Amino acid sequence: MSGDSSKTFYLETFGCQMNVHDSEKVVGTLVSEGYRQVETVEEADLVLYNTCSIRDKAEQKVFNRLNDYKKYQKQGKKFGVLGCVAQQEGEKIFERAPWVSLVAGSASYRNLPGMLKQLEEVEVESAQVEKARLEIAILEAGKSASRKPGVESLVRITGLGDRETDECFETEFTARTNPHRGYITIIEGCDKFCSYCVVPYTRGKERSRTSDSVLAEARQMADLGYTEIQLLGQNVNSYKDPARKPGGKKSFAELLAAVGDIPGIRRVRFTTSHPRDFGRDIIDAIDAVPTLCDHVHLPVQSGSTRMLDAMQRLYNREQYLERIAWMKAAKREISITTDMIVGFPGETESDFAETLSLLDEVGFDAVFAFKYSPRPNTPSISLEDAIPDEEKARRLEVLMARQREIQTRRYKKYIGTTCEVMVEGRNEARGQWMGRTSHNKTLNFTAATTPTMGRYVPVIVTGSFPNSLLGELVV
Ligand code: 5AD
Ligand code: SF4
Repeated sequence: MSGDSSKTFYLETFGCQMNVHDSEKVVGTLVSEGYRQVETVEEADLVLYNTCSIRDKAEQKVFNRLNDYKKYQKQGKKFGVLGCVAQQEGEKIFERAPWVSLVAGSASYRNLPGMLKQLEEVEVESAQVEKARLEIAILEAGKSASRKPGVESLVRITGLGDRETDECFETEFTARTNPHRGYITIIEGCDKFCSYCVVPYTRGKERSRTSDSVLAEARQMADLGYTEIQLLGQNVNSYKDPARKPGGKKSFAELLAAVGDIPGIRRVRFTTSHPRDFGRDIIDAIDAVPTLCDHVHLPVQSGSTRMLDAMQRLYNREQYLERIAWMKAAKREISITTDMIVGFPGETESDFAETLSLLDEVGFDAVFAFKYSPRPNTPSISLEDAIPDEEKARRLEVLMARQREIQTRRYKKYIGTTCEVMVEGRNEARGQWMGRTSHNKTLNFTAATTPTMGRYVPVIVTGSFPNSLLGELVV
C-alpha cells in the first residue's frame, strides 16, 4: 500500500533497549510502506504491541492491553503482536486473543512489508465477500498461505522468521526517535542459557554483525549529526566479528574503541555485558579512548556462588569481584550498575545475605532488582518455585532499601563537582532542564540562558537524590 498515507498505526513498546531499537526498525519499515504513525489507539487502523516476555508480569501487559482495546475490533481496527511474546507464543496468541490478526517475532521484521500486504489484501477481499470467515496462516511470511473457513477472526498472519540463520535482524529502514543519541545492534541472541532466562528461546542463537557494517552505520550516524552511540546486544562481550578478511576482524573492545574514534562521536555506551565474557581489554579501551563512557552495566544476579551455580551463570562471586576490581583500577572512576534476581528456587536467607553484602562490597550506582519469575522453556521452570511471592517481595524491598542508602551516599559525592551533560529534555513544571552525565546519571539543572538540545554543557552539581543529581548550568 505504498503511497497511501491514509493508513495509520499505533505502536507501544515494552521491554529492553533491544525492543526499543526494534520498534525504530518497525516504524521505519511501516513508514516506508506508506503508513503514518499516530499517538493514540483511537486514531489508528493498525494497533501494534512490541512485547517482552522476560517476566510473567511483562507478558501479561500485552494481554491486558489487547483486552482493553478489544472493543475496537468492531470498528475495523487490526491488532498485531510483535517481539518476544510473539516469538515465544506464536500462533497460540490467536487462541488467547482471537481478534489479533498479526503475530510477528523480531526475526521477521524484514518481512513486515509482505505481511502488511497480506493483511491488506485479505481486508479488501473480506470486504467483498460478505461475512467471509478466513484464516490465513503464513508460516514463513509471504511464502505460503493457507485458508480455513469457519473460524472467528478474518485474518491471521504469523511471521516468526528464522532465528537460526547467521543474519541479524536488520531492516532496510530505521526511524530513530532521538536525533542526537542512537542505538546500533552489534550482536543478536544469546548462547548462555542461564537457567531462568527466556532470551535464548525468544531471540535465538548469537549472531554478530561484521565490524565493517557496524562502523559504516556509526559513521553514517555521525554524518547525520548523532554524537552518542549505544552499542546493543544481549551479551555484547561475546561479540565475534564474522568478517573473513584477515586482520579485518575486531574483538568487542577493538570495535568499541573504533566507534569511539569516529570523528563527531562524543559518547559511546554499550549494553548488556555478561561477567563471564567481560575482558580486561574493555577497561583498557575505556582508559585509552576518552569518548567511551565511564559506565558499565554488569548484571550479577546474585551474590551467592551457590545461587550463581544454580542459575548457570558460569562465574562465581570471586570472579565477579575480580572484574569489579579491574573497573575500580581504571583511570577514570567507572560507574557500575547491575541486575539482581531475588527468590530464585532454593535461595536461602544466607544466600540472600550474600547478595546484600555484595551490594556493600561493590557500591553500585544503580541496581535493577526483580522477583524471580518462572518462564516457559527455561531449565529452571522444572524447579519448584517454592519461595512465596510475599517473601520475594520482602527480599526485594530489603535489597532496594539497602541500595538506596548506598546510592544516597554515592550521589552526594558529586555535589560541588562540574559534570558535562548532553541536554536531553525540559521539565516545564519544574523549570528545569534534563541531561545525562557520561557515567549515565540523570542531572536536572536550571539555566540562566536557554541551552540547546543535544549540546554538551558543563553543569555544577548543587544537590543529590538517590537516583538523580541537581545542578546549575555553568555559564
Ligand atoms: N525472573 C526474574 N528476572 C529475570 N531476569 C531475566 N529473567 C528473569 C526471570 N525469569 C532479569 C535479569 C536480567 C534482567 C534483564 O531481567 O536480572 O539481567
Ligand atoms: Fe524482554 Fe528479553 Fe525480549 Fe528484551 S530480549 S524484550 S528483555 S524478553
